[in-house]
Amino acid sequence: MSEPVQKPLPFGFQFLAGAIAGVSEILVMYPLDVVKTRAQLSTGVSTGIVETLKNMVKHEGTASLYRGIAAPIMVEAPKRATKFAANEQYTTLYKKLFGFEKVTQSLSVMTGVSAGITEAFLIVPFELVKVRMQDKANLGRYTGTADAFKKIIAAEGSMALFNGLEATMWRHGVWNGAYFGLIYKVKDILPKSKDASEQRMINFAAGTAGGIVATACNTPFDVVKTRIQSYNGVGIKKYNWTLPSLVTVAKEEGFASLYRGFTPKVLRLGPGGGILLVVFETVSSFIRKNILKEE
Ligand SMILES: *[C@@H]1O[C@H](CO)[C@@H](O)[C@H](O)[C@H]1NC(C)=O
Repeated sequence: MSEPVQKPLPFGFQFLAGAIAGVSEILVMYPLDVVKTRAQLSTGVSTGIVETLKNMVKHEGTASLYRGIAAPIMVEAPKRATKFAANEQYTTLYKKLFGFEKVTQSLSVMTGVSAGITEAFLIVPFELVKVRMQDKANLGRYTGTADAFKKIIAAEGSMALFNGLEATMWRHGVWNGAYFGLIYKVKDILPKSKDASEQRMINFAAGTAGGIVATACNTPFDVVKTRIQSYNGVGIKKYNWTLPSLVTVAKEEGFASLYRGFTPKVLRLGPGGGILLVVFETVSSFIRKNILKEE
């Protein structure tokens, strides 16, 4: 069942297919993101995933499962563009600075960490608004995402949108560092296939394994980020810098609390990656057939 080798789609189409895949993944997996945020904000015993979803539907309506979804959708395409451009730029820069001849594992780690940190600047306001919308404490406070942006700026100033920037840098830097640190080793272990679709499955398995480890490394930073971003200027500001906040959470609620929301986060990876893959392939072949008129 070996397919002929296809030349890659022109960049613009690849980008389009990627963005459509990314938005599809958000549309399907978003309720798990709401569950994750709720778990990270709770300080006591948190309920399981299914129970949380059931309770939300019962008490807040089905639409609550999608509360705040506009923010990540809006930033999905710009985020991909930033990730891509940052990767290119850092690769060129580090090749020049450190004399790498080709892309090695350590270059990938350095580039990934830098690109993750860069990406944080773009996404942090959208992440903040998403967290505020998802927070149960804010039910009825905002009519929608645009209203949340407006009210947060009016009450707290526009710089408040960047609360949690440092924690977001940690979250993305650590994720990319762990992922690229691991993925080469995983790919070495896994078999290689000449069959294109089989190779895609192998890459998918490698990506999921890398994602699970990366998520295990970055969840504590995600917990702190969510806590920082939920603070609305009223009452005691409990969390400021990321590292001391990790200590605070562990001390007050136990070490395991740094892993609040880990299960919904990790459960999203496999199916989420599958959706990305299938939608990307489907859109790509649609473009090949109907727009590029390839055979
Ligand atoms: C965080 O900073 C605020 C002022 O910016 C301060 O009032 C608060 O005590 C700080 N919290 C911690 C835990 O250091």
